Amino acid sequence: MLYSEKIPLEDFLIQRKSSVEEALNRFCCGKPDDIPPRLWDSMCYSLMAGGKRLRPILCIEAAHAFGSDMKTIMPFALAFEMIHTASLIHDDLPCMDNDSLRRGKPTNHMKFGESLALMAGTSLFLIALEYPLKKCRGEIAQKSLLEALELLLKAAGPSGIHGGQTLDTDLQSQLHETDFVWQIALQKTSCLIQASVLCGATIAGANIEEFKIMSTYSKHLGLAFQIVDDILDIKSEASHLGKTPGKDQKQGKLTFISSFGYERTLQLARKESQRALDEAVKLGLKGLFFKDLAVYLENRTK
Ligand code: IPE
Ligand code: IPE
Ligand code: MG
Ligand code: MG
Ligand code: MG
Repeated sequence: MLYSEKIPLEDFLIQRKSSVEEALNRFCCGKPDDIPPRLWDSMCYSLMAGGKRLRPILCIEAAHAFGSDMKTIMPFALAFEMIHTASLIHDDLPCMDNDSLRRGKPTNHMKFGESLALMAGTSLFLIALEYPLKKCRGEIAQKSLLEALELLLKAAGPSGIHGGQTLDTDLQSQLHETDFVWQIALQKTSCLIQASVLCGATIAGANIEEFKIMSTYSKHLGLAFQIVDDILDIKSEASHLGKTPGKDQKQGKLTFISSFGYERTLQLARKESQRALDEAVKLGLKGLFFKDLAVYLENRTK
């Protein structure tokens, strides 16, 4: 089913989340013989722990918008969830944010120990590249496949998440400028959200103009997403959020709240969401899902 004004967005997202989770479950049921069972259990523990599945859903909907189908795009959609989950496992490690709760469950290292959590995270980063390559070879034109893989690699690597997480955690990398928090958010969060969208658009064959619109849309959606994440850290509860709130301030994190204060941060979330929405509108009917999603994510509570 495609998204239309007749379906409440929330119901549509539940349906998409369940398609993604069915596919993830099939992936986890197919352990390759040469992967140690405890490593696989640790990878699949975090992959199957829940979450909003935003990145795979974005990848699928971008593919749908430009004429591709769910079956074709699913290996890439899953790859984005693998990368995201990998980044969360690493983000929660004692040497990073030192968190014990994720997606309403004990964090990976609390359950499996630090060394296995480190290996599970790295393994998920890497299998996220191997899996779509294996599944899509021969199914997708080689040029699109390579372009999509390049998007995925760049967002996962040192120009994307790893760069952003470095800026977030390494004090010596931080610049004392109020705008610096934008750079962190861009790399640690927005890059992967943007790549999920652009990968779907690339595989479906969006034209240059459409690609540019989707690129600007997803950049601002990703920034808004991290701004709201910082807001939720101070105003939500663990039982609802599924992770420990109040940690950013306790750990002296550089966030939108610490940089701009609460009221201004609310305005920034609104501004970035509006910028995303303005881009989606340019796509007409093809942009309907993306337009409604920008509003929905700005008002999310978890
Ligand atoms: C949390 O991402 C980490 C950020 C990049 C802000 P999500 O809020 O998408 O986490 P899940 O996937 O729903 O658990
Ligand atoms: C998340 O930033 C960035 C990642 C790429 C994982 P946070 O550290 O704020 O994410 P949460 O709040 O722990 O989910
Ligand atoms: Mg962090
Ligand atoms: Mg964290
Ligand atoms: Mg956070």
